[in-house]
Amino acid sequence: MSAPTDDPANDARWWRRAVFYQVYPRSFCDTDGDGVGDLDGVTAHLDHLEYLGVEAIWLDPVMVSPMVDHGYDVADPRDVDPLFGGMAALDRLLDAAHARGIRVTMDLVPNHTSSAHPWFSAALAAGPGSAERARYIFRDGRGPGGSEPPNNWPSVFGGPAWTRVTEPDGRPGQWYLHLFDAAQPDLNWDNPEVFEDLEQTLRFWLDRGVDGFRIDVAHGMTKAPGLPDMAVTDTRLLADLDDDPRFNNESVHEVHRFIRRVLDDYPGTVAVGEVWVYDNVQFAAYLRHDELHLGFNFRLVRAEFDAAEIRDAIDNSLAAVALEGATPTWTLSNHDVDREVTRYGGGAVGLARARAMALVMFALPGAVFVYNGAELGLPNVELPDEALQDPVWERSGHTERGRDGCQVPMPWCGDAPPFGFSSSPDTWLPMPPQWAELTVQRQRADPGSMLNFYRRAVAIRRDRAEFADADFGWLETPPDTLGFRRGSLTCLLNAGSRPLPLPAGEVLLASSDVTDGQLPPDAAVWLVAP
Ligand code: GLC
Repeated sequence: MSAPTDDPANDARWWRRAVFYQVYPRSFCDTDGDGVGDLDGVTAHLDHLEYLGVEAIWLDPVMVSPMVDHGYDVADPRDVDPLFGGMAALDRLLDAAHARGIRVTMDLVPNHTSSAHPWFSAALAAGPGSAERARYIFRDGRGPGGSEPPNNWPSVFGGPAWTRVTEPDGRPGQWYLHLFDAAQPDLNWDNPEVFEDLEQTLRFWLDRGVDGFRIDVAHGMTKAPGLPDMAVTDTRLLADLDDDPRFNNESVHEVHRFIRRVLDDYPGTVAVGEVWVYDNVQFAAYLRHDELHLGFNFRLVRAEFDAAEIRDAIDNSLAAVALEGATPTWTLSNHDVDREVTRYGGGAVGLARARAMALVMFALPGAVFVYNGAELGLPNVELPDEALQDPVWERSGHTERGRDGCQVPMPWCGDAPPFGFSSSPDTWLPMPPQWAELTVQRQRADPGSMLNFYRRAVAIRRDRAEFADADFGWLETPPDTLGFRRGSLTCLLNAGSRPLPLPAGEVLLASSDVTDGQLPPDAAVWLVAP
């Protein structure tokens, strides 16, 4: 397939200061009227991405899947699901995006497959001790008749991480490990066949012209030797225990070195890992020169709208990558966490804060990821119980509502749902009528909109020399505020309740109106020295 045409310096490390745009394909745009977004919907709206000025797309998984976890349960890693338009639709998107100079990276799910993957059916049919079972993590149970799970690990989605199978002779038999849903059996990364298969998958997409991958659960894959019981069982979604034997085991780095060797055959490609690891030294290990190019550091996502917390998150994220001379990677949200407008308080205050934090994020050195809808200031949606689809809702016994609220489809145009997202009123998640004010169409026409604010921030970041290198320094500012400089540019954030007097300088961009030389609360500004 085609390569990007807009590749001026032919810079193989283009991703070091790129703005990536995360497309959640189910929720982006539906062109075939089934109420679920598809790849032709992404192609149809590339003008939106170009308007925003982003360099690359991260596509959540589009491989063949029963969609129990919306594509993170992959039944064929080397084909596109018909729901998203099949392989031809991906080729169309690659061609159209590359023609506009936009790169396309895809999600890759190496920790587990779908239970509908042919390997898993073969494992069930072949029985204990077989080579087929050795591709997954099957164990005998504990207790009388093996009726208890092999260890006490919980699934990230709630309930036990083990499910018992019925053996080919009809008797209750072994258990298999699934850190997520029971329909997502974990692969056995001690098995060379699993490596070989991943290499085939990587080359399959890279040969087709894909520019890289977002690696799902990049801190997962290998498990603590002997599968010891967990000391603490915290079943929260994406809980962050660095000593959790389910995640962040030393041998996972062998998988990343393997992936990197393949990517190095395709200059200009990139791997960004989902790394839920907090210790800076352990986090940095994923970014060694022969492992991932980029790693999501989720400290900023987890920080409250509090100057000290935000500064601490930035400090630690920078310190972690500095250990390996790697590139920082920033995001305020993704398809797994509440949208930032909601996290920062919701309503007008949440929106103002999300706008301010976007300015902080775009001023930081490194790569930035924008989750679709963040540029519109979309909030989370309170969905009725009957609309919920995340497996977390069922597996937690209806105690955790899951992630559907941040995955509601994009409003494009018009005054009523489905706002140009689909020709069907029956969208896979219902869209709130109040989003009439937030459509792309409305926001493009409004110079003060979140969309046009994002667009200006991305353009200034791309065009100004201050953003070109890693130069960064903190400034002394009053309590509840923070400030840093990049060359002659200053970024100030007011997270307090009183206006912040601004130093002399030209306002390049502000998230709220700056009057009488004062930055109001819940706002940020970019200034350049006079
Ligand atoms: C990652 C994905 C999440 C998915 C899980 C299991 O955390 O971001 O959406 O459910 O992995 O694949």
